[in-house]
Amino acid sequence: MLKGKKIVLGVSGGIAVYKAVELLRLYVKAGADVFVIMTKNAQEFVTPLTFQTLSGNPVHTELFDLFQEKEIGHISLADRADLFVLAPATANLIGKVAGGIADDLLTTTIMATKAPVLFVPAMNVNMWENPLYRQNEEKLKSVGYQVMEPALGMLACGWEGKGKLPDPADILAETERLLHPRDLAGETVLVTAGPTREEIDPVRYISNYSSGKMGYAIARAAFLRGARVVLISGPTCLVPPCGLEFHRVGSAREMQQVVRQFADEASILIKAAAVADYRPAQASLRKIKKEQTDNLQLTLEKNPDILAELGQNKGKRLLIGFAAETDDLLENAARKLRDKNLDLIVANDVTEAGAGFDVDTNVVRFLFADGSREALPQMSKDEVAHALLDRIKRLKEQRNN
Ligand code: CTP
Repeated sequence: MLKGKKIVLGVSGGIAVYKAVELLRLYVKAGADVFVIMTKNAQEFVTPLTFQTLSGNPVHTELFDLFQEKEIGHISLADRADLFVLAPATANLIGKVAGGIADDLLTTTIMATKAPVLFVPAMNVNMWENPLYRQNEEKLKSVGYQVMEPALGMLACGWEGKGKLPDPADILAETERLLHPRDLAGETVLVTAGPTREEIDPVRYISNYSSGKMGYAIARAAFLRGARVVLISGPTCLVPPCGLEFHRVGSAREMQQVVRQFADEASILIKAAAVADYRPAQASLRKIKKEQTDNLQLTLEKNPDILAELGQNKGKRLLIGFAAETDDLLENAARKLRDKNLDLIVANDVTEAGAGFDVDTNVVRFLFADGSREALPQMSKDEVAHALLDRIKRLKEQRNN
């Protein structure tokens, strides 16, 4: 995604400078060409040599040295960037830019660029809450600069609160989003992901092997493409993607409640969750002891079919389901497409190599409501997610014409 992109990484002086080193590493790994500008204060924390070694490009620090180059340094850096990222962005840097001050290489270059600019603030919580700082941040946003929310936690100064530089992986995700074409802007995409858990007693449950990876990949991809994303997830080991609206649920009935809450706001509903079809008719309030019986009989009752319910009240929304099968893949998927009133179903045979529950790849077929079908080769779940969103976008366009 970042392959060949030119990023100017502006580093100003705060303890979080060490995290900018990790961010640079992630950018380089993702294929970006990174040019680092450091303020004088930033160099007190980490030397330019570290950034130079990792970026493979000279680190820029001085305004006037660069004036002596053939190209005017700050202008050439400003012009060649696809994106500017200021991480960490101190209160001082943000204050200067908000006040239109350009008194060093970094502030001059920010002022001169026409590329999108992302500020990633990191500072003491009291500074972050200071009304003067807040006004400065609002000023930046009002003229189109992007500003990320700092993370919450223990700060280097000993205070606890907002002000930590966000995780470099989250800054990377935000960077990708800013550089990605925003072809789903204006859409609200509701995605369900992962398994559900149906309680037997306080220590046991019925569930399935779903990892949630496919649904999370779709949520991430839709977010990258500019959509507002509501991700409703059953229990998984995955870290909730940054920037989207995230709701954790346990059972199928909990998932149904949260889906109902947000369904009306969504223009696109994608049900990638592996909802448990049955739950114990009576969950025991106390732990079931094995002395009680040699043959434990569980009576199961059917869970609501959340997707079928959505299909009955679809309105203008696009409704997409998944069919993970072991037998008669296309017949079963076609039946679900019809019975649940879907626009598109993503079918995969979970016994096929590279298409199972806990792997990073998938082999899928798309079945459309008009009867057309498409078979895709083995792809990463991220690629499948984008391929699916491409088809959804096409369906939207067809509907609007
Ligand atoms: N689904 C749902 N609620 C359920 C069961 C399934 O919303 N109680 C959704 C899934 O999220 C998926 C689609 O329906 O998008 C198909 O799920 P799947 O488990 O493959 O099919 P079922 O309809 O449950 O049928 P079966 O288990 O008999 O194959």
